[in-house]
Amino acid sequence: MSQGNGSGRFRSSASYGKLDRDGFIHRSWMKSQGLPDDVFDGRPVIGICNTWSEITPCNAGLRDIAEHVKRGVWEAGGLPLEFPAMSLGETQMRPTAMLFRNLLAMDVEESIRGNPIDGVVLLGGCDKTTPGQMMGAASVDLPTIVISSGPMLNGKFRGKDIGSGTDVWKFSEAVRAGEMTLPDFMSAESGMSRSPGTCMTMGTASTMASIVEAMGMSLPYNATIPAVDARRAAMSHETGRAIVRMVHDGRTMSQVCTRAAFENALRVHAAIGGSTNAVIHLLALAGRLGVELSLEDFDHLSRDVPLLVDLQPSGRFLMEDLHYAGGVPAVMKQLQPLLDPTALTVTGAPIGAQYEKAEVYNGEVIRGVENPVKPDSGIWVLRGNLAPGGAVMKPSAASPELLTHRGKAVVFETIEDFKARIDDPALDVDASSILVLKGCGPKGYPGMPEVGNMPLPTKLLEQGVKDMVRISDARMSGTAFGTVILHVSPEAEAGGPLAVVRTGDEIQLDGPARSLNLLISDEDMAARLVVWRANPPPPKATRGYAKLYIDHVLGADKGADLDFLVGSSGSVVTRESH
Ligand code: FES
Repeated sequence: MSQGNGSGRFRSSASYGKLDRDGFIHRSWMKSQGLPDDVFDGRPVIGICNTWSEITPCNAGLRDIAEHVKRGVWEAGGLPLEFPAMSLGETQMRPTAMLFRNLLAMDVEESIRGNPIDGVVLLGGCDKTTPGQMMGAASVDLPTIVISSGPMLNGKFRGKDIGSGTDVWKFSEAVRAGEMTLPDFMSAESGMSRSPGTCMTMGTASTMASIVEAMGMSLPYNATIPAVDARRAAMSHETGRAIVRMVHDGRTMSQVCTRAAFENALRVHAAIGGSTNAVIHLLALAGRLGVELSLEDFDHLSRDVPLLVDLQPSGRFLMEDLHYAGGVPAVMKQLQPLLDPTALTVTGAPIGAQYEKAEVYNGEVIRGVENPVKPDSGIWVLRGNLAPGGAVMKPSAASPELLTHRGKAVVFETIEDFKARIDDPALDVDASSILVLKGCGPKGYPGMPEVGNMPLPTKLLEQGVKDMVRISDARMSGTAFGTVILHVSPEAEAGGPLAVVRTGDEIQLDGPARSLNLLISDEDMAARLVVWRANPPPPKATRGYAKLYIDHVLGADKGADLDFLVGSSGSVVTRESH
């Protein structure tokens, strides 16, 4: 047995390297799992942080993935130790998985910091699991690599490919418009989700996985290899080797997630038509790392990036197609002049080495900058008297004719109010109206649900209306589409101007000018806000995590992190209770 005095070169040596009572306690209980003496010989201990869960179906394949990571860790001379983290299933959790992203981040942060591990592999995939894990890991800042669940196989229905989420929204609107029968709609259910893995559209999960890869926080092709493809298992094995090398090299997460990495990620985000949710997650992650990143960066950095990837919801194809077309490295190759090739990756190689030899194998799926899918992509950040803290929209998913629009507001105070009245035949609404939804921001719901892509009134769908301008303090699913203005800040619950919009008020959207204004005078606005502040709504929770969340959550324009979680506490723990 080669245990020592705890002065080994790794963090875990303080627990496993001591020949004293404390060392006995740390090692002996671990040996109950059948670990031999010599695994405590000073080798790197690799935590495998797993959000596997049967009620997070998108992450259901991660138990197998963990086994492949362990092979690589053992082979490279490390000790792999898998541990669970709170899992957040987007389609299952109520009231919304986003309420718990910060709770997962706290779980991950304290699990990493409190345990004797030297490096960590994060296994996540479903929308909130990737950012929650990364935020937590960033606040500890050990060597860290991400492996995503990988996308589901393409959906299939009656001879056609169908996409997670995106076709649910399309089909359900078709049912309401009388263009599709309910039995036909239900029969699409099984064909949409044919394997483990994340939504195979460019929804939030695929967006975050692509961003992880573009930032150099994973091995190449992490975002696109289908969840059930053997190459994902092989990549996981290689990741096991890579994390051991990363620990030996002393390369930490903050050395990879630099401002240059964020800038590269924002440009890739635009080129892939990524989810609006990435805005909130990346702002929160940057806050943990101390990287300067603003809402405006999303707009500025995407201005010269057209939509290059023809994936749903902005385009036609699905993640499997993107992988066969060359994956994220091939997309980055198209963007080469706009990227910083020197940004460091988890392997120690610059990101440029990850894409310089990449090729596009299907020019329909991955276009060149001279032949883009659409000229406008990325995120537009709107400001004006209706959104002084900013609001976002995704032009690639919007109707071009609505990007500049003036219309009368039809206001819904809550999502329940919306559901109760949207199909009322007496509702005074037409195609030029602007639907306004309040009470769905971080504090207001609470948790900022994905309801900003409000379904259109049935009576308008029956007239053939396909899109309307919609404004809210909510988020929307990354798989959704439409001329939808989201994340209005400050939110209504916090007394933002959105709180005082009334049905019949006129609103002016000028997307190209990045403005969003309620057409009332400054005096009217001020008077309405005085009345609102005199009688604010009661808080939406009085105990438990929801109260903690409401009391401390930041606005969407700051990433909706909890105020006391911004920043990092590092990995050092000075006290020992044994
Ligand atoms: Fe989990 Fe889409 S619901 S990735």
